[in-house]
Amino acid sequence: MTDTVKFVLDESRIPKRWYNIMADLPSPPPPVLHPGTKQPVGPDDLAPLFPMALILQEVSGEREIDIPEPVRDIYRQWRPSPLHRARRLEKVLQTPARIYYKYEGVSPVGSHKPNTAVAQAFYNREAGVRKITTETGAGQWGSALSFAGALFGIEIKVFMVRVSYNQKPYRRAMMETFGAKCIPSPSPETNSGRAILEKNKDHPGSLGIAISEAVEVAATNDDTKYALGSVLNHVLMHQTVVGQEAIAQLEMAGDYPDIIVGCTGGGSNFAGIAFPFIGAQLRGGKKVRVVAIEPSACPSLTRGRYAYDFGDTGHLTPLVKMHTLGSTFTPTPFHAGGLRYHGMAPLVSHLQELGLIESKAYQQSEVFSAGVQFARAEGIVPAPEANHAVKGAIDEALRCKTEGKAKTILFNLCGHGHFDMQAYTDYFSGKLVDQQYEEAELAMALAGLPSVTA
Ligand SMILES: Cc1ncc(COP(=O)(O)O)c(C=O)c1O
Repeated sequence: MTDTVKFVLDESRIPKRWYNIMADLPSPPPPVLHPGTKQPVGPDDLAPLFPMALILQEVSGEREIDIPEPVRDIYRQWRPSPLHRARRLEKVLQTPARIYYKYEGVSPVGSHKPNTAVAQAFYNREAGVRKITTETGAGQWGSALSFAGALFGIEIKVFMVRVSYNQKPYRRAMMETFGAKCIPSPSPETNSGRAILEKNKDHPGSLGIAISEAVEVAATNDDTKYALGSVLNHVLMHQTVVGQEAIAQLEMAGDYPDIIVGCTGGGSNFAGIAFPFIGAQLRGGKKVRVVAIEPSACPSLTRGRYAYDFGDTGHLTPLVKMHTLGSTFTPTPFHAGGLRYHGMAPLVSHLQELGLIESKAYQQSEVFSAGVQFARAEGIVPAPEANHAVKGAIDEALRCKTEGKAKTILFNLCGHGHFDMQAYTDYFSGKLVDQQYEEAELAMALAGLPSVTA
């Protein structure tokens, strides 16, 4: 088995429980606050937006939470996802490192997002919910929730960041195929959208704005709940099926990672692959270096402030402590739409504060160059978001080459790029330029952070 390329688990090995890192942390993350009272929110504050089962998961301290059988049944459509050893890439790089990637692009919509979409749709259906609103950047999350909505008979309305809506018409078609409604954001349908359009009718949109629109619709309609594709504790926890499977697959390979790499938009695919390994480390297991990769144009972990902020631009959400660029920060329209979020998951932010993870930012041209190199070696075209992780893993492998060290590198190839070929076309024609955020805009957005005394 020394030359095995794919490590594949049987369906019976789909994890039976999600892993909750909260149970193993040396200290809990700061509480979520009510924006009016600045006091910790309780379950009832969140009840207009989420079903109680998900709210209880959000605040749970239990190490493991059972995955309901109907959810595992749907996971069978694509899980366990394969773990690949990137032997051809290793050869191209002439690195002594062993590179593994967990390939989440095998899911029905092409990314890790259905791992939580199916779970969230299930708990909503159990609570009798008939309609869910959400936002989407790249379209992967919107597609995933639309797919899950189709399976559970729930109506889905997706506010899609306008720049991505224009860049990726086939994502919209996919959502509509699953029966969902997809609207470009900012839209005239909501107060939040109208307020933005009044100032700039050509606004490119952002995840922060799309979240405001979706939350507003859910908060003002009794029959509608809201679902978020990243950031929240329960969403990150649903993604831990990825890392749990990887642990079993690396055991088959007789290996264990020295370095784990993931891209970070809101933090969910990164958490999915990394948290089970960090948890093992916190319980006395082997230490791993964990590196989060983000775009230089939207660098919340590397340039943001660790502070209480709103999760959305319209200030409808509670306050969470996270690395943030400021809720009014609008990232330039670069091609990794899923990474255009002003904040970061509170749990990922907390881990960085605890020194348990590192972060690094790259420009989009260098991540596309890495993605093309990966595609030519491994035959998979990564999503632009995933290219950030590819670049991070390649850099680590090249460092191993320079240092003559045969380390084991694991990264999350969180999605394929089959709906992102315009981005690749732009890259090949030299149109995909590196984007810098405006220092003045960042300063202004940070100046608007809500004041919260400890
Ligand atoms: C393929 C892909 N990767 C990554 C992300 C970023 O989200 P997260 O950081 O929650 O994994 C997205 C978001 O849309 C995505 O579509």
